[in-house]
Amino acid sequence: MSDIGTGTRANTGVSTGSAQNRYSTGAMVFHWIIAIAVIANWRIAAVAEHASETDAAYWMGHHKALGISILALSIFRLLWRLAHPVPAKPNSYATWEKMLARTVHFIFYVLLIGLPIGGWLGVSMFGGNVDMWGLFTLPGLPVGEARGTGKAIIGLHKTGGEIFIYLIALHIIGALKHTFWNKDGTLFRMLPFGNPNR
Ligand code: HEM
Repeated sequence: MSDIGTGTRANTGVSTGSAQNRYSTGAMVFHWIIAIAVIANWRIAAVAEHASETDAAYWMGHHKALGISILALSIFRLLWRLAHPVPAKPNSYATWEKMLARTVHFIFYVLLIGLPIGGWLGVSMFGGNVDMWGLFTLPGLPVGEARGTGKAIIGLHKTGGEIFIYLIALHIIGALKHTFWNKDGTLFRMLPFGNPNR
């Protein structure tokens, strides 16, 4: 499993200052906007699932438009990530924790890009498109109508979404465990304040 990106900065064990162990402002902006958007889109899909047919169409419209926005942001984020090194994992992490964090981050990028494309592909196989909040319409992918395959792809999209939520829970538990149990400042690596160098 290679770490996403071209590399990490060396962790010098510097205990003061913040640049060494803190993600860049750009990385933080992408992280928090996308995190909020992903959680919102999960809840929107849940509301749509339990709504009446008319309300479901309304909520699914938002789910699809937000999903495509997440796709666009994630592509920019990945390109940004490939061009900007990230801080090395803290020396306080056990080897298995470093590997687990890298694996989860890698799967996040795969899901951030794969899930919206899967949703778009599935909708396209039903002859659908994506209305981007009335600003413009994203046409369906040129795959032709194939409802059976489309249904299977939407099924995979849902399973992928569920796996995503479990991994997000694991990611949050990891960040909180390191910050409040190990007291190593992990959360502040992704925040513009606090001390990430403990
Ligand atoms: C939908 C929700 C979220 C997603 C998709 C997500 C995704 C990611 C990804 C991909 C990274 C690695 C960044 C990189 O190296 O390029 C990361 C790092 C990080 N995230 Fe999240 N995140 C989410 C929510 C959260 C939340 C709620 C917290 C805090 C409770 C959090 C705390 C952190 C921290 C502290 C790091 C830096 C970890 C390190 O030191 O390597 N994340 N996140």
